[in-house]
Amino acid sequence: MTDKSPAGGAHARRDEDILVITLDHPPVNALSADVRRDLAAAIDAAQSDPQTRAILMVGAGKNFIAGADIREFGKPPKPPALPDVCNQIEASSKPVVAVLHGAALGGGLEVALAAHYRVALASAKLGLPEVNLGLLPGAGGTQRTPRLIGARAALDLMLSGKHLSADAALKAGLVDAIAEGDDALTAGLAYTRQLLAQGAGPRRSRDATAALADKAAALAEAAAAGAQVAKTLRGLYSPAKIVEAVRAAIEQPFDEGLRTERALFLQCLDSPQRAGLVHAFFAERETTKIPELKEARPRRLEKIGVVGGGTMGAGIAVSVLDAGLPVVMVEQDDAALERGRARVAQVYDLLVKKGRITVDERDGRMARFTGATTYDALDDADLIIEAVFEDMDVKLAVFAQLDRVAKPGAVLATNTSYLDVNRIASATRGPADVLGLHFFSPANIMKLLEVVVGNHTAPETVATGFELARRLRKTAVRAGVCDGFIGNRILAVHRQAADMMMEDGASPYDIDAAVREFGYPMGPYQMADLAGGDIGWATRKRRAATRDPALRYVQIPDRLCERGWFGQKTGRGFYLYPDGARQGTPDPEVLAIIDAERQRAGVAPRPFTHEDIQRRYLAAMINEAANVLHEGIALRPSDVDVVFLSGYGFPRYRGGPMHYADSVGLDRVLADIRGYAKEDAAFWKPSPLLVQLAESGRDFASLNQAA
Ligand code: 3HC
Ligand code: NAI
Repeated sequence: MTDKSPAGGAHARRDEDILVITLDHPPVNALSADVRRDLAAAIDAAQSDPQTRAILMVGAGKNFIAGADIREFGKPPKPPALPDVCNQIEASSKPVVAVLHGAALGGGLEVALAAHYRVALASAKLGLPEVNLGLLPGAGGTQRTPRLIGARAALDLMLSGKHLSADAALKAGLVDAIAEGDDALTAGLAYTRQLLAQGAGPRRSRDATAALADKAAALAEAAAAGAQVAKTLRGLYSPAKIVEAVRAAIEQPFDEGLRTERALFLQCLDSPQRAGLVHAFFAERETTKIPELKEARPRRLEKIGVVGGGTMGAGIAVSVLDAGLPVVMVEQDDAALERGRARVAQVYDLLVKKGRITVDERDGRMARFTGATTYDALDDADLIIEAVFEDMDVKLAVFAQLDRVAKPGAVLATNTSYLDVNRIASATRGPADVLGLHFFSPANIMKLLEVVVGNHTAPETVATGFELARRLRKTAVRAGVCDGFIGNRILAVHRQAADMMMEDGASPYDIDAAVREFGYPMGPYQMADLAGGDIGWATRKRRAATRDPALRYVQIPDRLCERGWFGQKTGRGFYLYPDGARQGTPDPEVLAIIDAERQRAGVAPRPFTHEDIQRRYLAAMINEAANVLHEGIALRPSDVDVVFLSGYGFPRYRGGPMHYADSVGLDRVLADIRGYAKEDAAFWKPSPLLVQLAESGRDFASLNQAA
């Protein structure tokens, strides 16, 4: 017991009359089978040890406990089960104290709630984030939390998955006290001694009654939460189960409530949504495992330059200012610079208006912003991000200037959406310092950053790109050079599949509805209207000369653009936006244009069910993603998943397109594609990687393991 097992566990030693149990499973003390076994054994041994008067649980390292061991989900369960360990802690005849620092999340907080007293350090963050993994708190959390803090506060914690600070947890009634200092053991021992001096005995959360005393009010709170869930968390499986479990806490005796919780937890555990969300959790943590980060360290990042103050340049500047770094923005002339500065200021003014930041915070961020109309102002920047027009000649001219003024070792980045990063790098004398940093719009909000690695990009440059992402709290995914990198390249293909369905008989409104039904917040045509049809139009014109004549080209979007219908910003696109409305309404004129195009193209329209639409849309996405993997543009399937989850609104509970493909079966996806190829073999060409995997009975996940 006193030995620390290499795989992690718990070890116990006595400090005078207090048995200190240290949870020790780096990096976050997740409650693996070994930890549970050691913890249970230590609690058990303490009961009959005459020299132990109280028990203190403390986490080794920076955290108390980050929850159940997520890697164990979906595998055969190993005893002892966490709910049993929690019950055993609560049943202790000697007082049990938990001292919380760092993460006290999920099962970690449940262990603490099973203890008789809780003291938190300022660093503690408490939460029940199981909902983010498609689960509910399954170790008594749904039963003990409402008994301690009431139904409404417990539901809020469990349905949002948010973290509470030590102060907020004290106010809510989740902890009994906040301790000074940053040493958990010292604080925990002092608190436990104080309790012993006061003659405190066990105090069990299961017996707390005050918070649920008004049963009718508590049930009404649960009903209100249920109605809210049905409205705002539509499509998600576990939130309704959380509400059901809390209702059990209100209505049932504790032990019966625990049984209800267990049954609901197992239903969630078995759900495909749990598998998708857990996949997403790990996929996001895999993206930094790239060869360059193994061999190189990032360069210094103290000052950032941004060239171009349009939509993207301004958003990137805000993102950098938010991270506490100074920005110098370069524009073509004073008027354009003023517009760029105004865009940045507008974002902050809005945040002040919404009460999200204070006036002082806005002023502090704007004080770090400077602007210039000459490139020389960039001579002390450590990293410069170009966000000028999407035009190769303009970009080449800008990079030639940057090459002239940038200090040695400065990293030069382009935010191009599609253009060849290698060619852009060739405008400089140091292509090793050049890479793509592809932000998504709005750049201060969207989490994704594609870090595009060119043929000559140095590992140190890549490491610096990832470091910038870390500082900006973005999810960086490594991508290789091709037209559109990972995300936009794949998007172009499934958008083409959607356009073909539109010409063949589905309305854009049907397609959007089917894609929303799949779980996207909006469909491709709502998205196009939001982004602005002119961007895609410019790309199509650029590609016109090199387009494969064998590939079908649907002209409907061009017909709209020719009329100046670019979407929300022009008041109409695929939808109508009367009087600046943000929500579009279907447009009969658009349907008439589509009809005319069908006639021109000689297409007899046919019906598409929502399922037909979803299958074609997803098949096109998965097939192109397989090509992207095959060519090494993405390092691993889970990176493609992260791109679509954090940049394109793919429903997180489905895990991303690659995980989704595995869940329906690659043989089915391939069969679909081969079926569609009978209509259009030029477009529906099965990816060699997809064929190889499907025919050998493998899945994309097997490539993650190999990466
Ligand atoms: N189980 C297994 N591994 C975990 C884990 C967990 N609960 N939490 C984190 N890890 C792993 C990560 O995968 C990562 O591994 P890697 O280094 O091999 O990539 C490593 O620990 C460090 O994690 P982060 O990179 O996320 O570190 P941060 O310092 O940025 O964040 C954290 C720490 C806030 C604790 C964050 O990891 C986190 O949110 N973890 C998950 C918390 C959670 O969801 N808990 C609930 C679990 S479900 C549950 O408890 C069910 C119960 O009710 C029965
Ligand atoms: P934009 O047209 O809004 O802004 C471009 C800005 O660059 C203008 O303000 C212009 O004055 C300035 N500019 C042009 N030439 C310049 C020069 N030589 N020196 C300094 N400034 C110059 O364009 P947007 O949308 O911001 O796009 C910029 C880049 O970001 C493009 O490469 C685009 O493909 C890419 N991008 C755009 C996304 C979007 O959704 N808008 C998403 C991701 C990338």
